[in-house]
Amino acid sequence: MYDFNGKVVLVTGGAVGIGFSCVKEILRAGAQGVTIADINEANGKAAENELAKVFGSNKVLFLNVDVTKQDEFEDAFEKTLKKWKTIDILINNAGTFNDKQWEFQIDLNVTAMVRGNLLGLQYMGKDRGGKGGIIVNMASILGLQETHTLPIFSGTKHFTIGLTRSLGTPYHFDRTGVRIAAICPGYTSTPLADYIRQTDAPFLSPDLWQLYVKGDKDIPKQPAESVAAGVITCIKEGKNGSVWVVENKEHYEIVLPDRKTLRK
Ligand SMILES: NC(=O)c1ccc[n+]([C@@H]2O[C@H](COP(=O)([O-])OP(=O)(O)OC[C@H]3O[C@@H](n4cnc5c(N)ncnc54)[C@H](O)[C@@H]3O)[C@@H](O)[C@H]2O)c1
Repeated sequence: MYDFNGKVVLVTGGAVGIGFSCVKEILRAGAQGVTIADINEANGKAAENELAKVFGSNKVLFLNVDVTKQDEFEDAFEKTLKKWKTIDILINNAGTFNDKQWEFQIDLNVTAMVRGNLLGLQYMGKDRGGKGGIIVNMASILGLQETHTLPIFSGTKHFTIGLTRSLGTPYHFDRTGVRIAAICPGYTSTPLADYIRQTDAPFLSPDLWQLYVKGDKDIPKQPAESVAAGVITCIKEGKNGSVWVVENKEHYEIVLPDRKTLRK
């Protein structure tokens, strides 16, 4: 069983929502320290202060980081290493829903996801002088199915699952000692989920927003803590390349079928 004691974790987008819940659960599990790499300075500082009261003042490091910027993201690894001398787990959580500003969305959900994985392998990989580790990539259940309301978001999360499964193959693990898994949350109560319910701004067109809001009424939102519980199980037990769903407060691994079994 994986032991969190003494482990150091870097969580992107950890100031609020799912990322913040992950930080809390990781500290509760006994980690030595967590770096929150987030673009929102006010929320990041508030998170750092709140966590210091519960877990002690030297357990959390907030860094104002935009993961779409290579130098800032890389600096987060350097500063984490400087503070704790090691990095054991990376959670690539920062992401958005924004089909209207789809290039921005791809920059964050796809390009920065690749950047995070490559930096994680660079800083933790045995082939690069590290001691191995774990990368958890935040996807979505919409990365496993089609959706008419958020087609570009859905595409970015399909990408995350594909990247995770391909980097999570034995060839890469044997070289790097880094285990990689993906989490697919269902609808979860966070500032982002609240925001997209309130405005058509992140949708390709107002009619798609109206359809989203109509459907949204029937979908219960799970708390962010449920996703964090799934992340903890995935870190403890998740096999390399595995994909996990967290929906309706439940988490479980799924097995994706071979294409040949899907032939019509
Ligand atoms: N909430 C849901 O229903 C849901 C469902 C499926 C997947 N997800 C995924 O879970 C992840 C977290 O979502 P959430 O709902 O908690 O979002 P959120 O917006 O509530 O929190 C995301 C955090 O990421 C930070 N962030 C945004 N851009 C950043 C950047 N460029 N660099 C660094 N930090 C940045 C924000 O400041 C914020 O603190 C995302 O990848 C999202 O796509 C969420």
